[in-house]
Amino acid sequence: MAYEVRGVIARGKGQAVSLETVHVPDPGPGEAVVNVQACGVCHTDLHYREGGINDDFPFLLGHEAAGVVEAVGEGVSGLAPGDYVILNWRAVCGQCRACLRGRPWYCFNTHNATQKMTLEDGTELSPALGIGAFADKTLVAAGQCTKVDPAASAAVAGLLGCGVMAGLGAAINTGGVTRGDSVAVIGCGGVGGAAVLGSSLAGAAKIIAVDVDDRKLEWAKSFGATHTVNSRTTDAVEAIRELTGGFGADVVIEAVGRPETYKQAFYARDLAGTVVLVGVPTPDMTLELPLLDVFGRGGALKSSWYGDCLPSRDFPMLIDLYLQGRLNLDGFVTETIALDGVEQAFAKMHHGEVLRSVVTL
Ligand SMILES: NC(=O)c1ccc[n+]([C@@H]2O[C@H](COP(=O)([O-])OP(=O)(O)OC[C@H]3O[C@@H](n4cnc5c(N)ncnc54)[C@H](O)[C@@H]3O)[C@@H](O)[C@H]2O)c1
Ligand SMILES: [Zn+2]
Ligand SMILES: [Zn+2]
Repeated sequence: MAYEVRGVIARGKGQAVSLETVHVPDPGPGEAVVNVQACGVCHTDLHYREGGINDDFPFLLGHEAAGVVEAVGEGVSGLAPGDYVILNWRAVCGQCRACLRGRPWYCFNTHNATQKMTLEDGTELSPALGIGAFADKTLVAAGQCTKVDPAASAAVAGLLGCGVMAGLGAAINTGGVTRGDSVAVIGCGGVGGAAVLGSSLAGAAKIIAVDVDDRKLEWAKSFGATHTVNSRTTDAVEAIRELTGGFGADVVIEAVGRPETYKQAFYARDLAGTVVLVGVPTPDMTLELPLLDVFGRGGALKSSWYGDCLPSRDFPMLIDLYLQGRLNLDGFVTETIALDGVEQAFAKMHHGEVLRSVVTL
């Protein structure tokens, strides 16, 4: 039968995206077709369009999504048409060396659909992060569908599919933030804002939000920041030290992805503290630090992919906390837009006007 749907395509580096007809095959063994209900616009979609991830154009963009399963292929168990799911880009394999050692959140061989979605002329599409959900329907590996409580709206639930999970997990999973900790978050967009929220959920006593944009600092307060620093006008390292008795924070989360903000994070942490890099740098960026400072300050320098999340463990739990009124996920949805509004949403993101624009279908 297969499906003809609308999808947002990036055809070439820096080229405006276009809405085109996409051919979605019937699900094969181990695959599922999902009716997308909502998909957030993440900075990584823009990285794809700008050729910053790889050159496998044309891309079918969108990867922060929730929807309802339309059909499943042969051999799929535990997932059926009608199930309400968040799409994930960590469908763990259960077989690789990380999975076998009981650390599936590091899985080195995650699953995607085997078949290809195509344009009308048969050109194969590369779905962003193996998802491609700026479309009415998309084809994924069944393991990329994580069932959650349908009482949460798709616009909110979809956010856990990427950026918000990355930020929450950078604090809770990678940074190990716990009761009484002092935390600083550098860069408070969707990801950093979620790191603030995660720190608050974990019981951090002091949460210092740092950004160059006052709008982001206001949003950070709504997610639980106890102090804010505009690093355009104030030295971030000195301000964080001053707010922590002269010592620095226990955990500093970098959610920008630049050498200068990484250095701030490095020097703004207390002795034996932890730095978590969740912002994604570009290949040209390098970092120079006195090795003695790396040694002498002890602690841990970590990076965090997708918040070291395990979708099957984390998504349903976070949705339940949201439904109980204990996790402000609504605050990330700045606006909902139509499928033809993605290009405009990129511009708004670039100008710092939104935390998340969410396409609803
Ligand atoms: N590690 C992961 O798994 C993962 C997942 C999703 C996104 N990301 C990455 O996280 C980063 C943030 O994503 P986002 O969606 O929140 O983007 P965003 O554009 O919404 O947020 C970036 C924030 O950084 C601020 N900023 C810029 N320069 C700054 C500076 N010099 N000092 C302080 N703040 C500064 C901006 O004002 C903005 O608020 C991106 O690099 C993105 O690719 C990583
Ligand atoms: Zn694995
Ligand atoms: Zn993303």
